[in-house]
Amino acid sequence: MGIRIEERKGLFSLETAHTLYQMKADETGVLQHIWYGPRTDTDMSYRIRTVNRGFCGNPYEMQDRPDYSLDTLPQEYSGSGAGDYRSSALEAENHDGSMSVDWRYAGYRLLKGKVKPERLPGLRGNEETDGLEITLEDKANGLTVYLTYWLFDRYDVIVRSARIENRGSKGIILRKAATLCVDFPYGQQDVIHFHGRHAMERIPERTGIPTGGRLAFESCRGMSSHQSNPFIILCDPNTTERSGMCYGFMLMYSGNHLEEVSRDQTGSTRVVCGIHPEKFSWKLEPGDSFQTPEAILSCSMEGLNILSRNYHRVIRDEVISPRWRKARKPVLVNSWEACYFDFNADKLLELARSAADLGMEMLVLDDGWFGCRNDDTTSLGDWFCNEGKLGCSLKELAERIHSQGLKFGLWLEPEMISPDSDLYRAHPDWALTDPGRKPMVSRHQLVLDMGRQEVRDYLYDNISTILKEARIEYIKWDFNRSMANVYSRALPEDRQGEAAHRFMLGTYSLLERLTNTFPDVMIEGCSGGGGRFDAGMLYYCPQIWCSDNTDAVERLEIQKGTSYGYPACTMGSHVSASPNHQTGRTIPLETRGIVAQAGTFGYELDPAKLTEAERKTVKSQIADFHRYEELIAWGDYYRLDESESDFTSWMFVSPDRSKALLSIVATHVRANGPFPFVRLQGLDPEKTYRREDTGEHMTGAALMHGGISFPQFTGDYPAIQVCFSAAAD
Ligand code: DGJ
Repeated sequence: MGIRIEERKGLFSLETAHTLYQMKADETGVLQHIWYGPRTDTDMSYRIRTVNRGFCGNPYEMQDRPDYSLDTLPQEYSGSGAGDYRSSALEAENHDGSMSVDWRYAGYRLLKGKVKPERLPGLRGNEETDGLEITLEDKANGLTVYLTYWLFDRYDVIVRSARIENRGSKGIILRKAATLCVDFPYGQQDVIHFHGRHAMERIPERTGIPTGGRLAFESCRGMSSHQSNPFIILCDPNTTERSGMCYGFMLMYSGNHLEEVSRDQTGSTRVVCGIHPEKFSWKLEPGDSFQTPEAILSCSMEGLNILSRNYHRVIRDEVISPRWRKARKPVLVNSWEACYFDFNADKLLELARSAADLGMEMLVLDDGWFGCRNDDTTSLGDWFCNEGKLGCSLKELAERIHSQGLKFGLWLEPEMISPDSDLYRAHPDWALTDPGRKPMVSRHQLVLDMGRQEVRDYLYDNISTILKEARIEYIKWDFNRSMANVYSRALPEDRQGEAAHRFMLGTYSLLERLTNTFPDVMIEGCSGGGGRFDAGMLYYCPQIWCSDNTDAVERLEIQKGTSYGYPACTMGSHVSASPNHQTGRTIPLETRGIVAQAGTFGYELDPAKLTEAERKTVKSQIADFHRYEELIAWGDYYRLDESESDFTSWMFVSPDRSKALLSIVATHVRANGPFPFVRLQGLDPEKTYRREDTGEHMTGAALMHGGISFPQFTGDYPAIQVCFSAAAD
């Protein structure tokens, strides 16, 4: 494992536990992408053939080699306007208006000790993490790109980013600056992407790639979005959960993004991922540089479940803050679906009392506690407690909640401003709005210009005051609109294309500052549910509210889709009231509990309204959760149902394979239906497991190959949860 460089050949090999990533600087200095896949111990450039395909130009120095063309050779970081007609990784406008970028290899540097990309979140690593930096330059304009690769070998993960520097003597404007480009010269592949909408996020869709065509998965909403997650999978057409080649590309970024997948005239597939170039530009004066976000790449030869587990492990270990990595998350009750804007301190206290009685551990006061906020039309930005509404100060409320034995959490939406707020009246220019145009409003709110230091200072001071005055253990950090009219009153005209990315850098810097000052306050990310569920936010927020849709049946799809890239311990998931507030569906409390247990687990209802029988069920759900929480947070997660069926099933297996938790939820019950049947995964075939509900004993081999069946389902959305424990040897 590690980085091997054969200077004579210009060959760079990055080896993880099972994979090899190879590049080669050829005789012209073009850095070719040679291979990404299983380890081979071979210079894989033997696969690259050249032929004159016609209408494929040749670099000037290769004009006598009509077979040598940037249009057909696999590129490590494609330029633009210089003969490669596929998706470019970088586009620039030179001082004279010319727009070509033509890279040539200029050197490399071995790195030791992971460093975070400047002003951006990044994988953490440690002083032993190995890295490689390759420099490419365009001699004509002095533009230089430093491609950085970090190896997270045991996860089969490679982390890429690019820093672009203007080493010329004239200004250059970047029009596109992607994080990566990866070419796959052979084979037909599918792409799996995760689309959605508010209240229905990260739905996987698998599609072929049209030859000669280009697919774009993207967000230009100023947020990673409900509509398209910055994560895609490329896989062979026959790849399943359990077998086949697949590759993941996950951008660690929470703003506008684009994942392009194209297939050219000869069937070569290219992936380019990065910040969305639409409405983006970045001015580089001589000596300036631009840093792209990191992307997390992984490859599995044995199907999608393993690919997902690579991401789960690396996110848990290397993205989540060490402060929260191993921390127990409190079972919380959130006030939103319990009382929306209609509460005072007495009502909240009543909620806290009944929650504590059932074993819940934290009350989160969601929205409506500040300014004059009794609905969503006002007060964002005025982060001062509405004591008139509450009947006491935040400090007193927190004390009274704590005296019930509960922790206290608070909702904030820092990046927003209501036009009806004291903050807006004082600083209308702090909102992102176009000059001379009425702004697009959404949920009656505008977006703050987080790129401005004074805006961030205001928020930092306000939030710090709240956190210092009252004992608050948790913040829910919300973001409830897509951005539009992204114009910063603080930037000159020719830098407006920077505003959206500067916004993101500003948000990250505020999060960085707050998490450094208040390391013990846990932040749960949120954006109208899961509109900003990405690795960038996970760097600061160990969990993210998965969706505003709390219907357990719909959550099956949302959480399953989310599981392709993100671990269960990051998915905010609550039991809510029935009938469900979003769909009106009635689902048994037991089923709601089992579904919420595949995430961070909490409640989103008024416990005082539960019947005696329901209270008993809730108590036992919480007890069960405590029994399994380590397994859920730290175990390996497997999606079990591969094809469409009438139920959804998944399981967690402890790292030592001594415990497993199987969950099955029926989404369609049929008269005289088949027996629910699943084949377990991840067990030790040699071990004997005890099925805890029946006391039966079976070997791991039997459970994995022979599977297990259950009596026919009856009723509405029934569910089964079974724990298996390995018998002592
Ligand atoms: C959207 C969030 O997703 C909800 O959970 C809730 O916090 C509301 N915002 C409050 O306005």
